[in-house]
Amino acid sequence: MSNTASGKNLRINGERLWQSLMEMAKIGATEKGGVCRLALTDLDRQGRDLFVRWCKEAGCTVSVDRMGNIFARRPGRDNSLPPIGTGSHLDSQPTGGKFDGVYGVLAGLEVIRTLNDMNYETAAPVEVVVWTNEEGSRFAPAMVASGVFAGVFDEEYGLTRKDLDGKTMGEELQRIGYAGDLPVGGRKFGAFFEAHIEQGPILEAEQKTIGIVQGAQGQRWYEITMTGQEAHAGPTPMRRRKDALLGASRIVHEVNRIGLAHQPYACATVGLMQVSPNSRNTIPGKVFFTVDFRHPDDATLSKMDAELRACASRIAEEIGLQLQLEQIWYSPPVAFDKACVSAVQSGAETLGYENMPIISGAGHDSCYIARVAPTAMVFVPCADGISHNEVESATPRDIAAGCNVLLQAMIARANA
Ligand code: GLV
Ligand code: MN
Ligand code: MN
Ligand code: MN
Repeated sequence: MSNTASGKNLRINGERLWQSLMEMAKIGATEKGGVCRLALTDLDRQGRDLFVRWCKEAGCTVSVDRMGNIFARRPGRDNSLPPIGTGSHLDSQPTGGKFDGVYGVLAGLEVIRTLNDMNYETAAPVEVVVWTNEEGSRFAPAMVASGVFAGVFDEEYGLTRKDLDGKTMGEELQRIGYAGDLPVGGRKFGAFFEAHIEQGPILEAEQKTIGIVQGAQGQRWYEITMTGQEAHAGPTPMRRRKDALLGASRIVHEVNRIGLAHQPYACATVGLMQVSPNSRNTIPGKVFFTVDFRHPDDATLSKMDAELRACASRIAEEIGLQLQLEQIWYSPPVAFDKACVSAVQSGAETLGYENMPIISGAGHDSCYIARVAPTAMVFVPCADGISHNEVESATPRDIAAGCNVLLQAMIARANA
């Protein structure tokens, strides 16, 4: 029954993978063709349930850890070997697309379905993983459950992350039935691979089908609260005001300036802001907002940090505001494992796909998994480099190509 050939002739079923992606995209589908499936909502549960059903139909054993990470396992010839893992996330941004995360999960499932079709037995087992709350959109920070898995955060920290309504990840995991009983982490992978859309414009511009991901840039996330004084918009003279929104907007401008000052790589974003009391004829007394800084070089990221702190203090002082600035997350730049990167490269070469090395601009669960397992990623292009947007799109051809590369890399490592 076992097929012991090298597996180089195996090809995934692109049509089946595409259909599965479109089926999953119905869960939380938005009018503009995107997806809203925030972490640990009822829609996230529906997505997880569908994934688990498909995995069981493919003969996998499914288990869930206490952070809600799901592991679907296909046995190998020697089940004492650590599995070769792959996977990504099923949660999305509030106005997300059909591919960010989901592609990496369903590409993993497609690898298993293909191995089944071909009756191909790998030496090591193969596992597909869904990591909980990669996006960090409902519960900050991003990659929190893969972070607990990798020992970056402790479990208590992970389970007590709160959304803006004060609900914790722990409560929401219980509510949707995905607070599993496996301990988090300590599970060895022989190697880990993640397929993902690039989420940027480089592969498309260079007309390459496959990005061989060498590593990922570092990130620092901040939460800033500026407090001034609420007062009437009519009787309060301009010079007497302590307008918290004025302070926040000046920081937004500085954040952009800092990003531009560290080109070609820096990225600097204010993506969330809450103004209180948010009334048109009251001077804003309090503003809460976030900053997201990224750079592939850690020293530059530190410089950006120092610049933000300096300008925020100066602005707060000039307007007479109280400043609370907290770095809530730091994820250093990551270099992926050389042998895994070359397994991805060989897969792309074997299949004859145009490819190039690339550094990930986005954060991925693999950035943390790289601390506990040899890890690499496969990127495919997305239209106009747009992601975190409902119009996010990728071609069936590229989606299939990335999955074929994933299959080759996984087979090579599973039989190594
Ligand atoms: C999440 O998708 C991130 O990269 O910020
Ligand atoms: Mn993603
Ligand atoms: Mn994302
Ligand atoms: Mn991401």
